[in-house]
Amino acid sequence: MKESTKQRALFATKFAAIASTVGSAVGLGNIWRFPYEAGTHGGGAFLICYLAFVILIGVPVLCAEYCLGRATRSNIFGAYRAAISGRLLHKLGYLGIISSLLILSFYAVVAGWTLEYCIESLMGKLDFSNPEEGHQQYLTLTTGWRPVIWTVIFMLCNAFILLKGVTKGIERVSNIFMPVLFVLLLLFCINSLTLPGAKEGIDFLFVPDFSKISSKVLLGALGQAFFSLSLGLGCMITYASYFSDSTKLAGTALLTALLDSAVAILAGIIIFPAVFSFGVSPQAGPTLVFEVLPNIFSQLTAGGVWSTLFFLLLFIASITSTVSVSEISVTYLCEERKLTRTKAVLISTVISLAGGVLCAMSFGPLRDFTICDRNIFDIFDYVTSNIFLPIGGMLCSLVVGWALDRKTLKTQFTNNGSIRFRFLPILVFFLKWICPAAIFLVFLDSIGII
Ligand code: PFF
Repeated sequence: MKESTKQRALFATKFAAIASTVGSAVGLGNIWRFPYEAGTHGGGAFLICYLAFVILIGVPVLCAEYCLGRATRSNIFGAYRAAISGRLLHKLGYLGIISSLLILSFYAVVAGWTLEYCIESLMGKLDFSNPEEGHQQYLTLTTGWRPVIWTVIFMLCNAFILLKGVTKGIERVSNIFMPVLFVLLLLFCINSLTLPGAKEGIDFLFVPDFSKISSKVLLGALGQAFFSLSLGLGCMITYASYFSDSTKLAGTALLTALLDSAVAILAGIIIFPAVFSFGVSPQAGPTLVFEVLPNIFSQLTAGGVWSTLFFLLLFIASITSTVSVSEISVTYLCEERKLTRTKAVLISTVISLAGGVLCAMSFGPLRDFTICDRNIFDIFDYVTSNIFLPIGGMLCSLVVGWALDRKTLKTQFTNNGSIRFRFLPILVFFLKWICPAAIFLVFLDSIGII
């Protein structure tokens, strides 16, 4: 494959490249989605499967996406076209575009709740004096028509950052806020560990009951690993196209996976002790975190201040993720369809907004519209995270493992011979065989074939 020499905007420093990919990976997936998925799938058993998938499949596929992105310096279509030239297979890039628009739709709803909680607590409108009150407020904020408005506001913020340009805006935001979020999570962890009944929550999260591992748990954990690491839809391909030549791909992949999983575990340590302490069901689903957090703030001195700070950081973490999701369709429209960046941002925002409005209404006016017991929001989430992303990851793994030539792989992982990378043969073996086979087996298992 011919290495690309195209001039593109690049992340200024190695730290910025790491902070930006971590910024994409760390978001609502860790703090909102991980606790609710773990809650509905048996706690410890889910955590074990999730971590196993992150290590065995997530890290290699992340390496594959980074490699493809930097070698081609292109959007998902351009990257596949360069790697498998002449074959129609690159049209599979559409799967990434569709996934990104669907993810943006439901993600914006949760990010909208976050923004609303932040503004409401800033204005002192949230009453944290008792848990009952907190529960009522949570119902008002997440149901009815209000979420539609906040989804729209969030999408406009997202579009604004996209128009300002990704590398500069995201770089700056990620560099500053990601470390602050991490520290705040640590503080909240300490607080949760001192709650009465905390041990029950910790046991739920860390003591696995292996009898609970089922095909549903495996598929859920696989989907969570992909969602959380922003894998399978070309997001990391696009971000790696902004990496400089000196960014170490394997090291960055490992660090991204490590920090991402650490944040998910911290979120679990914050949420589960509180779930048991305040008598909330761990199976509450997508609204779990928003139901539990007000309880936590209600027993803190100056709960409103903590709440404002927490939701502000969560909002920032969400926007660094949504910007990376949006970049997939925006770079596609700019580079493949030759649209201006403004038009591309407009089109991608309008499409995902339409989906976002449907998702926002699925806890209120459209709550009775369900398929197989899932509302529109759940369907968007389930189909993308558990099906589309693993399929996308499997394809990327196969393309990099089988179609990319050894020379390109070596150049990418050794930064053109300037560093050593002894694990290349193992990585290629995982990409050719282990990752695709494991994903395929989880699929077969989930449809009851094995
Ligand atoms: N990884 C993000 C999170 O955990 O919040 C969500 C996400 C971002 C998914 C970008 C997919 C993506 F392309």
